[in-house]
Amino acid sequence: MSSSSLVAIVLAAGQGTRMKSALPKVLHPLLGRPMVALPVQAALDAGAERVVVVLGHGREQIEPVLSARFGERVLFAHQTEQRGTGDAARVGAEAVPEHAGAFLIVNGDAPLLTGECLRALAESKHKTSALLALLTVRSGDATGYGRILRNANHHAVAIREQRDCTHEEAAITEWNPGVYAVDAAFFREAIAQLGTNNAQGELYLTDLLALAAARSTVADLAWPEEDLHGVNDRSELVARERVLRLRRARALGKAGVTVRDPESTFIDLDVEVAPDVTIESHVHLRGQTRIASGAHIDTGCVLRDVIVHESAKLLPYTVASESTIGERAQVGPFSHLRPQSELGPEAHIGNFVETKKTRIGRGSKANHLSYLGDGVIGANVNVGAGTIFCNYDGYQKHVTVLEDGAFIGSDSQIVAPVTVGKDGYVATGTTVTLDVPPGALAIGRGRQVNKPELGDRLRERLKARAEAAKAKK
Ligand code: UD1
Ligand code: CA
Repeated sequence: MSSSSLVAIVLAAGQGTRMKSALPKVLHPLLGRPMVALPVQAALDAGAERVVVVLGHGREQIEPVLSARFGERVLFAHQTEQRGTGDAARVGAEAVPEHAGAFLIVNGDAPLLTGECLRALAESKHKTSALLALLTVRSGDATGYGRILRNANHHAVAIREQRDCTHEEAAITEWNPGVYAVDAAFFREAIAQLGTNNAQGELYLTDLLALAAARSTVADLAWPEEDLHGVNDRSELVARERVLRLRRARALGKAGVTVRDPESTFIDLDVEVAPDVTIESHVHLRGQTRIASGAHIDTGCVLRDVIVHESAKLLPYTVASESTIGERAQVGPFSHLRPQSELGPEAHIGNFVETKKTRIGRGSKANHLSYLGDGVIGANVNVGAGTIFCNYDGYQKHVTVLEDGAFIGSDSQIVAPVTVGKDGYVATGTTVTLDVPPGALAIGRGRQVNKPELGDRLRERLKARAEAAKAKK
């Protein structure tokens, strides 16, 4: 590997006890991505040819998640005992013994890091030929972070952990975000010299700075704190996620997407939104959802793994997962599309309609209060209010087929397996148990009789009964 080549080491072996969680800290998601995947991605974006992730706690759970996302570009190193960040970085470096360029070292709990910021750091090290370059944050709240100590010439000469600080040192506002680029040869030599003479009795990676400063200058690059805050507990997790959300809304806004209220909108990082889409407030787009241009997603919609085609309209409070919504289709308000619902172009699904594993053809409509499960519905079918597909007999699911042009009157039950043929007509209130041939009328309900004056007599009798009951009390 050339002297300018970069290997990233991501430190993620800590337990993260402050998350108070059975899930390893670095797997907690931000906008659908496990936390540790974000610094790994930033390192790759910055040009790292490999990324070594140092794992300890929960490594059986973390490794497969990262391998699935990044494949061969990510290697793993095992820190058997958590003896500090210096020890973790050493373990990471041992996974690439041949590497002669620089190590880019970052914390696994730093989800806001960007490729741009890591590239700037690597370039700063390269340009100055420093043995070590680090990012620093000059202002803001330094609480909990290591402080940057500078000498009379204003050169950074050491990092002091908060718990090791004197009173004066603790007052320093310049802090260490834990992002370094280090010459690989210097690293290997210096890491062996670290001691544990500090408040935690650990090997501190931060002590490399003093060792580098004693030999040559170090390069320090001030960077805005927005990209550098880490996550220690769940309140910090949501604060960092909010930054990601606002970044995403800004980027989408530039790309032609109206995100009406970024503060209340959650768009997972893997979601794709085309230009000329409008997303109203309080919308959650999760998983692998894809929204095509011209679509309008109204307030309160929650979509997971949904494909929305061109110019579809989702009215307020549509909840959908693993489904497809066709071009110019309209869904909602208050519709529920469960997995494998496939709406064709211009289909309409209205309020309080639930669909599951059902295909709905072009221009077909089910506008009110229905359950459509295990259905195959052709084009231009009208499903009346209150129609229920009785798909389950307690043991098995059965399919309902409604062929093109069928008309289902309101409050009908369709007992599957059954087919209503092309242009078949089911009268209101019918329980369909037999196939309906094409063009036929199916009607299955009691015949209505009208009895003259019986209504009045019935009322009188009921009234008298009610009065007698009242008198008794
Ligand atoms: C560290 C820095 C501190 C800096 C801060 C920035 C040190 C000694 N201190 O402190 O100067 O301001 O980061 O966030 O480096 N880890 C391991 N193995 C270990 C210990 C830690 O892999 O044995 C990992 C953790 O999982 C974590 C990262 O290293 O991802 C940082 O460890 P943490 O304990 O959070 O360090 P801080 O106290 O935050
Ligand atoms: Ca930390």
